[in-house]
This record gives sequence, C-alpha cells and structure tokens, in this order.
Amino acid sequence: MSLRLGDIAPDFTANTTEGPIHFHEWLGNSWGMIFSHPADFTPVCTTELGRTAQLSDEFAKRGVKVIAVSVDPLDQHHEWVKDINEVNNTTVNFPLIADENREVATLYDMIHPNASEKATVRSVFIIGPDKKIKLTLTYPASTGRNFFEILRVIDSLQLTANYSVATPADWQEGEDVIVTPAVTNDQLEEKFPKGVTFVKPYLRKTPQPNK
Ligand code: BEZ
Repeated sequence: MSLRLGDIAPDFTANTTEGPIHFHEWLGNSWGMIFSHPADFTPVCTTELGRTAQLSDEFAKRGVKVIAVSVDPLDQHHEWVKDINEVNNTTVNFPLIADENREVATLYDMIHPNASEKATVRSVFIIGPDKKIKLTLTYPASTGRNFFEILRVIDSLQLTANYSVATPADWQEGEDVIVTPAVTNDQLEEKFPKGVTFVKPYLRKTPQPNK
C-alpha cells in the first residue's frame, strides 16, 4: 500500500555517494526530504538535482536534510554528479542513494509500473522531526519539479506545526495566514495579539505570527 500523510517514513539502510546510511539515524531530529528521479544522465533530472544543490542553503536554513534516490549504481551516481555540478555551476552536497535492488523504491512506492516498469517516478516525501510524512508529491518523468514550491510548502509546514494557523492559496512567507477553525473567537486576542480580520465568520486572517 502506498504511503500516506501521517505515516512513519519507512526506515532502511542504503549505499549512498556519502557512504552507507541508516535512514532514521541519518535524519536524527531534522526535517528531511527524500526524492526520487527516473535515471542518472538524463536531462530533466540533471536540472532538478542541480537546482536542489543550488538551494542547499535554503534547505539547511529550514533544518531540512536532503537525499536523492534512483535505481542507478553508485559508480554512475559519482560520475553523474560531476555533470550536475558542471552544468548547474554548483556543488551537490547531499547524498544520492544507489538503490539498485529497489529496496527504497519499493518501500516508498516510487516505481509506478504503468508509467515505467523499471525507473522511479519523480516522488518527493517531506518528513518531520517525528519521522512522520508531512507531504507527498508525484510528478511524471517529463515534468521537472519546482523546488521553490517545495521550500514554500516546508515554510507552511513548519509554521503550521507551531501555531494554530493554515496558509491560504499561493501563500508566500511573510503574508497573512488563516486562523484554524479549532480556535474559538474567545481565544483570538490571546493567541493572535497582532489582530484578526474576519473575511467571513469561518475565514479569519492574521499576520504571520513568527514575523
Ligand atoms: C529526464 O530526466 O529528462 C527524463 C528521464 C526519464 C524520462 C524522461 C525524461
């Protein structure tokens, strides 16, 4: 069965470009992003891992450890990383899992046989410090992912983990957020001292609390 939000991210041991890892131990108390790509030495994947490397400070700022996975062998990963660095003028500083036996791909249901029998699709799992899955995304091989959008969702996840708020459509860091329905009107003054605007009785907006 496929993984769902709130499930514990499956643990595994694997060989990576940074040596063997035990996934949960490697995550420690951090947030994590494990993401799969169809194959090394392919064009879209080269841009995706390049963009992720370029954004490594952004992931680090949010306390998110990043790890990539495909079913390609380790020596191929090492060779391909040289291309990624060259093409994107960056340095890949996160591990790539060599999942030749498809153990990780199977645990995370990253092979969708009706799309491709052998290769992993473009999956993303964001994992919280409690090891629970907070976000899943699945993109087809033909569409490169938007890693700025992934950072935006991480910002929303981290904000809503700490405050009784949700983020509206197209929300960006610093914009007003929505008070969750569980908060009663009696609690608003204490919980949201910056003030609350009633757009509708069920749609209450407040400035981003941690700004
Ligand atoms: C790519 O990364 O460009 C790609 C990989 C597999 C299928 C199609 C495109």
